[in-house]
Amino acid sequence: MFRHLWGLLLAEATARAAWPNGPFVTSGRAMTDASGTTVTYVGVNWPAAADTMLPDGLQYQSVSSIVSKIKSLDMNVVRLTYAIQMVDEIEGNGGDDIPIQTAFTTALGQENGTAVYNQVVANNPSFGANTTRLQVFDAVANECAKQEIYIHLDNHVSKAGWCCTPIDGNSWWGDIYFSTANWTRGLSYMADHGKQWANLMSMSLRNELRQPFLDENLFAQSYNWQDWYKYTKQGADAIHKANPDVLIFLSGLDSDTSLNPVVQGTDLTPGTAKFNRDEFQAYSNKLVLELHNYANILGGSGVNNCTALQDDLFNDGFQSLSDDAPNQFPLVMTEFGFVQDATTWNETFARCLESYIPAQGAGWTIWVIAGSYYVREGKQDYDESWGLLTHDWSDWRSPEHINGGLIPMIKASLHGKGFGNSSGNNSSGTGNEESEALLRYEGGMRLTVLVTFVFASSCLILWL
Ligand SMILES: *[C@@H]1O[C@H](CO)[C@@H](O)[C@H](O)[C@H]1NC(C)=O
Ligand SMILES: *[C@@H]1O[C@H](CO)[C@@H](O)[C@H](O)[C@H]1NC(C)=O
Ligand SMILES: *[C@@H]1O[C@H](CO)[C@@H](O)[C@H](O)[C@H]1NC(C)=O
Ligand SMILES: *[C@@H]1O[C@H](CO)[C@@H](O)[C@H](O)[C@H]1NC(C)=O
Ligand SMILES: *[C@@H]1O[C@H](CO)[C@@H](O)[C@H](O)[C@H]1NC(C)=O
Ligand SMILES: *[C@@H]1O[C@H](CO)[C@@H](O)[C@H](O)[C@H]1NC(C)=O
Ligand SMILES: *[C@@H]1O[C@H](CO)[C@@H](O)[C@H](O)[C@H]1NC(C)=O
Ligand SMILES: *[C@@H]1O[C@H](CO)[C@@H](O)[C@H](O)[C@H]1NC(C)=O
Repeated sequence: MFRHLWGLLLAEATARAAWPNGPFVTSGRAMTDASGTTVTYVGVNWPAAADTMLPDGLQYQSVSSIVSKIKSLDMNVVRLTYAIQMVDEIEGNGGDDIPIQTAFTTALGQENGTAVYNQVVANNPSFGANTTRLQVFDAVANECAKQEIYIHLDNHVSKAGWCCTPIDGNSWWGDIYFSTANWTRGLSYMADHGKQWANLMSMSLRNELRQPFLDENLFAQSYNWQDWYKYTKQGADAIHKANPDVLIFLSGLDSDTSLNPVVQGTDLTPGTAKFNRDEFQAYSNKLVLELHNYANILGGSGVNNCTALQDDLFNDGFQSLSDDAPNQFPLVMTEFGFVQDATTWNETFARCLESYIPAQGAGWTIWVIAGSYYVREGKQDYDESWGLLTHDWSDWRSPEHINGGLIPMIKASLHGKGFGNSSGNNSSGTGNEESEALLRYEGGMRLTVLVTFVFASSCLILWL
């Protein structure tokens, strides 16, 4: 009896000490921890890939208070973005990162950069004159680990800045700023650096691949699934070689709204090869798909037909979660979002996504925690109306959304009846009753790849 109790206590202690219990692997459509328990990502994006190449918000709050806000929702992951340019600068500087003070003054100018730096240090007294950018990444990762939140590290851009258009030079391998060699070097560097973080569970290859409209030949000759596959294998190999523990997220074409031939096992055109897990030698159980969706691609016109939206999502990638998918993978909706006002969350698009995603057992990270950015598109202290937090990152911007939409979504993902709930273990893919009721939405406009293309085309016309 005594021995038994002691054993139980030991097991309990081990289970606690074992968080995050990695490395994670995949099994069919599930991500699982080292003991085979399904892990469903439920979290938020924290941008750190824009001009300063630093996690946003620290001139207003401490790292720990921001992480505590995330934790208060019961979220379990942060999608932390970074720019390849950060690694390029380190490599170009004999392996040394630059101090954050320099990063701020370079991006914001001497006067404002110094003022923002002083505010950052006032809120985060452990930072100082010698703190480097990567040390701030380390601080974010370590605080997340302390509060038992996983890190998913996302290569957002090559040249640091706001993302993503087809004319920003960051769109596709070979685009002005998107050197394939710098990219694989950057992925390796970050994969290796992240080994010291207890909670780095996964990394992406590249955010929102899209049409390279600044280079007609590149667009015509390379923007296709065949080249996607070639580069995807190079990036995945680079990450795996540097850090064999992390899951690797593959993202699709058309700003990551399409993963069609990967899921369906059809030709990777213009070639005839098909996606083949065996070509990801020794880590075929490390691959996860990621997908994005936004209603505002056409400038806020919105989507008001949930059935149509679900059909699109299914065809674009969610099919990977179904029983009869030719290629099953876990899938994480790493970006979706909308204005954080009192009502948008209760309109069809948001309601539809926030019910459909958990019901399918997909993971997700909403865009975005940031109430403001150090700088976005040239404007300093940019207010982010889509941010979960207010401008000064102190409170929820839309308590209506947090309580009416987001918390129910988190609960549905973590405790619903979808297969993401390992004790439920129900493969029907249906969610809780709340989700099912929310799914009964109808309406008009379809969001398709065509929309992305129309958007891209209008950019091209503007550019011409
Ligand atoms: C510097 O900050 C002030 C506000 O504190 C702002 O008005 C100004 O536009 C900023 N300078 C630049 C170059 O953005
Ligand atoms: C920063 O580094 C320099 C050179 O290594 C050192 O002299 C200085 O004391 C450090 N400053 C702080 C605040 O740690
Ligand atoms: C690649 O990195 C080097 C520094 O190692 C840098 O000089 C070069 O500009 C980068 N290439 C691109 C396309 O950004
Ligand atoms: C959400 O919208 C529905 C109408 O679609 C309305 O009946 C309901 O009261 C709204 N809920 C909240 C909390 O605003
Ligand atoms: C899983 O689903 C079952 C049945 O719906 C529920 O009782 C249980 O609380 C869920 N598990 C978790 C971890 O929430
Ligand atoms: C639970 O899920 C696992 C993995 O998908 C499967 O092998 C097992 O058969 C399922 N068990 C039940 C009772 O459905
Ligand atoms: C799985 O869910 C479906 C639909 O909610 C239900 O009919 C079925 O009984 C469930 N199966 C198990 C094993 O819980
Ligand atoms: C919504 O989309 C579905 C599927 O495309 C379609 O069958 C239905 O007619 C649409 N509803 C409305 C009101 O347009």
